[in-house]
Amino acid sequence: MLRRLHHEQPESFAFTPANMAWAGKQLEKYPEGRQASAIIPLLWRAQEQEGWLSRPAIEHVADMLGMAHIRALEVATFYFMFQLRPVGSVAHIQVCGTLSCMLCGAEDLVEVCKDKIARQPHAISGDGRFSWEEVECLGACANAPMAQIGKDYYEDLTTETFAWILDELAAGRVPAPGSYKGRFSSEPEGGPTTLTGDYHHKTNGSLGIALQVGDSIKRIDGTEPGFSFANEPEAPVRPVIEPKPAAAAKPAPQPDAAAAPAPKPKATPEPEAAEPEVPAEAPDLYTEAPADADDLQRMKGVGPKLESTLHELGVYRFAQIASWSPAEIAWVNERLSFKGRIERDDWIGQAKQLMGDD
Ligand code: FES
Repeated sequence: MLRRLHHEQPESFAFTPANMAWAGKQLEKYPEGRQASAIIPLLWRAQEQEGWLSRPAIEHVADMLGMAHIRALEVATFYFMFQLRPVGSVAHIQVCGTLSCMLCGAEDLVEVCKDKIARQPHAISGDGRFSWEEVECLGACANAPMAQIGKDYYEDLTTETFAWILDELAAGRVPAPGSYKGRFSSEPEGGPTTLTGDYHHKTNGSLGIALQVGDSIKRIDGTEPGFSFANEPEAPVRPVIEPKPAAAAKPAPQPDAAAAPAPKPKATPEPEAAEPEVPAEAPDLYTEAPADADDLQRMKGVGPKLESTLHELGVYRFAQIASWSPAEIAWVNERLSFKGRIERDDWIGQAKQLMGDD
C-alpha cells in the first residue's frame, strides 16, 4: 500500500508543555548521540496528541532528535500504526480483519463501520467525528472479533454490541473496553480450566488501567492520571445485547424446477423481530444442501460467514435469490446480522447475472 503524506497540512506543530516534558524524559533514556532511537515514541506521542501525523509534526520530531527530515519521514511512512491523514475528531476505529477475526465475523463489523461512519476506510464521517480502517492482527485473536478504538481493545464483539459501542461514542460516552461477552480476559468459552481460584483483582490488568485512566479516546496532552491498584475500579457492567434470532425456515416449493430437487418442509420458529416495514414472508428454502448448490461467495459482499448463514436458512442457489419478492427479502433481512445488505449489494441483480453466466 502506498503511504503518502496528506495533501492538506497544518502550518505548524508543537507539543503541549506536558508532552514536551515527557519527550525530554524519553531522550534521557538514550546515551549521548543516540537520541534518534527515540523517534518512534516521539512520533507516537505526536500522533496521540493530534490524532494523526502531519508533516510539520514529523519534521518537528526530527529536529528535536537532530535527524534529517527524510529519515523521520521514512519511519513515519513505513509503519502502518502512524496515521498520515486526518482521522475522526472523536475516534478512529481499527477493525481487525485477520484470520481469527474474519472467521468470527469481522466482515460484519466492517459493514457496521460502513453503515455508521463512512463507506470507505480512512474517510471521515459526515460530522467529522469518526473514521475507520481494517487492520492486520492486533494480537487478541482468542477474543475475536475485535476492534481497537483509541488506545483500547473491544473484544468478543457482535454487530449489535459493536453498533452500541459506536452509538455510545457518538453520544459522548466512552464504553468500557474488554470482552463483550463477559470474559475476564481470554479464558475458554466454558470458563477457566486453570487458575480456577478467586482472582485477586476485579478486572484484568489492561482493563483495570483502561477504566481507571479513562483515556481510551482522549487526545494525550500529558495531563493523564497514573494508575494505582489502590484505586482499582470495579468491573464494568455492560448492557446485555442479544443477537438477532437464529436462522429459521418454512416449508417451501421448489425454486428452480429444471435443475434442483424439491426442498422439503422445515420447522419454522418465528423470530421475535420488530415489525418490518414490508410484511415478511419466507421464500423457497432447502432443508438440505442440493447436489448442484451454487457458490454464493461469487456474489459481491458474501463471504464465508454470510454464506454459512444463508445455508442455515436453506438458501443454496442463485435461482432462489433471484426470485425473492420484497416480502421475502424482508424475511431474509430479519435473519441476517446486518440488515439492508441484500438491497445495498443488489443480491437479486447479482444472482440473475450469475445465473446468466452459468
Ligand atoms: Fe484479530 Fe488476531 S486475528 S486479533
